[in-house]
Amino acid sequence: MKLKRSYLVPLSLLLAATLCSLSLPQQEERAKNLKVLPKNISHEELEKEMRSFNKALGVKCDFCHARQTDNPKKLDFASDDKEEKETARDMMRMTMRINKKYFKSGKDEQGQQMMTVTCYTCHNGQKEPASKPPASATPPPPPAPPVPQEAPQQH
Ligand code: HEC
Ligand code: HEC
Repeated sequence: MKLKRSYLVPLSLLLAATLCSLSLPQQEERAKNLKVLPKNISHEELEKEMRSFNKALGVKCDFCHARQTDNPKKLDFASDDKEEKETARDMMRMTMRINKKYFKSGKDEQGQQMMTVTCYTCHNGQKEPASKPPASATPPPPPAPPVPQEAPQQH
């Protein structure tokens, strides 16, 4: 059966209108699942923070953020499905505490805790910070003791 052209035009217009109205609210979407960061954080600040996590741990966003169930090509940033995200929250709390308690780092003009110690301080580009230097970095053994020479003759 063939659909008449006269049906198709209004139908596609309706579809276009629906898609437009769906995509509009998303542009002003605010983060909806913040438990550590300030809820009113600006989009740029949030993005800066997240990029610093990527750098500090040497990972991509999907290390902490789960994929969308209906579109696995995209990440569901608000989802708490990945354990790494919850670990990261604990790490954020810990890092803030370290700065406050042990470095007495004050707050900046916006009232945010200043960070002397950051994720990078420990992680240094690694997912799991090393507790001891790698084996290859251990210093070479000291040179063998010199072959004993005969004691200088005494006269
Ligand atoms: C080391 C883990 C980690 C990495 C890597 C990471 N994030 Fe996050 N992200 C978090 C945590 C933890 C939160 C929640 C913070 C909170 O609860 O205050 C979060 C929250 C967010 C949110 C807010 C979601 C909402 O609606 O609540 C967005 C958006 C986001 N991240 C984007 C990104 C992007 C983009 C990247 C990559 C550039 C990224 N994240 C990399 C851990 C991470
Ligand atoms: C004082 C040092 C220290 C600081 C600061 C620190 N971390 Fe960690 N982090 C660790 C250690 C050590 C581990 C490994 C724990 C283990 O193996 O059980 C770890 C593990 C993690 C993991 C889990 C990695 C995995 O393989 O599952 C994440 C995610 C993480 N840290 C994120 C962060 C973020 C984000 C920050 C900054 C807000 C941060 N960390 C700051 C020491 C630190």
